[in-house]
Amino acid sequence: MSTKKKIAVLPGDGIGVEVTASAARVLTAACDAAGIELQLDEYSFGTDCYHANGTAFPDVTREGCLAADAVLLGAVGSANPVNHDELGLLDLRKALGLYANIRPITPFAELSGATPFRPEILDGVDFVIVRELAEGLYFGDHAGDDERATDECFYTRGAIERIARAAGAMARERGVKVTSVDKVNVLSTSKLWRATFTDVFASEFPDVELEHMLVDAMAMISIQRPASLGVVATSNMFGDILSDECSVLAGGLGMLPSGSFGAPGPSFYEPVHGSAPDIAGQGVANPIGAILSAAMLAEHSLGSIEVAQAIVKGVRGALASGLRTRDIAGGGGHVVGTEAFTQAVIEQLSAARA
Ligand SMILES: NC(=O)c1ccc[n+]([C@@H]2O[C@H](COP(=O)([O-])OP(=O)(O)OC[C@H]3O[C@@H](n4cnc5c(N)ncnc54)[C@H](O)[C@@H]3O)[C@@H](O)[C@H]2O)c1
Repeated sequence: MSTKKKIAVLPGDGIGVEVTASAARVLTAACDAAGIELQLDEYSFGTDCYHANGTAFPDVTREGCLAADAVLLGAVGSANPVNHDELGLLDLRKALGLYANIRPITPFAELSGATPFRPEILDGVDFVIVRELAEGLYFGDHAGDDERATDECFYTRGAIERIARAAGAMARERGVKVTSVDKVNVLSTSKLWRATFTDVFASEFPDVELEHMLVDAMAMISIQRPASLGVVATSNMFGDILSDECSVLAGGLGMLPSGSFGAPGPSFYEPVHGSAPDIAGQGVANPIGAILSAAMLAEHSLGSIEVAQAIVKGVRGALASGLRTRDIAGGGGHVVGTEAFTQAVIEQLSAARA
């Protein structure tokens, strides 16, 4: 029986194609070194696929994802997305039963000069956003005409319980508190969210500190005192917005990885950023978010912390050597494109073994 690990690779659109190629190369090199055999199978997915085939998520892609050990996505979308169907993301998340999107915010010290923050604000920052992925505003009904529009936001107790458990387990493992973020002073869904978190932590995580915070306060605290955060658990839309804000702590949108987990079966890994139509095809995209997503894949879906750590070390080494893609060059350094940065990470992997 083959021990090859099957990875379904969905490059998607725009810079998704460029950064996925980088992540796949780095993952392959790191796995080769660790004696892990990979089989990478590419599938069409996203907006270009939608325009070519009438669907963003063809059956062959769905089957390939379900049969894989893990799925690696670049990004999807065009400059003017028409509707959600065009992206295919919601269908893909449903097909894989994903409900917890984990977004670590762990800035590299080498990049503190590339952020607008003073070094003491960034000192000790290492937290995780746990974003609920299967309900909330993005999954409700959307309707409207030229005069009036509505977007349904719904949450069920079951969906909140399972994300509370994911956050609680992660906080227990990391030895940190959970900050549950809502808008309880206005939203009914937030009242259910807060009550459910309180119940789950009282009965299942009495050893883990739980605090509640309004999303507007979190928008400020996350950049004023980010080192005070451990696990930040929040709803679909709030998590989407807060993580883009928090990416600035790490140097920008190109830096953040993510992993999505849920039903037994393949988990899903992608950088937090989109397809960046403004820079697509120029070879300047920052591949770090995608490469670090591959590191998360190695840890959680290949069970190799060793490969994950080697990849992170490779990225750190490339940054320490002074190389920067254009988006993170604010603090100085030698600006290179996607390809040269990726090559530098791979060379760091070999140097570490020499
Ligand atoms: N999960 C996903 O695939 C995902 C996530 C967000 C947005 N989108 C889609 O992406 C498309 C573009 O959306 P957007 O422009 O609002 O967001 P975006 O994340 O694509 O880009 C926002 C800005 O950040 C820059 N940027 C993003 N990633 C970068 C990287 N790796 N290196 C350097 N610069 C980077 C872009 O150049 C742009 O200026 C839309 O169709 C949107 O729906 C997809």
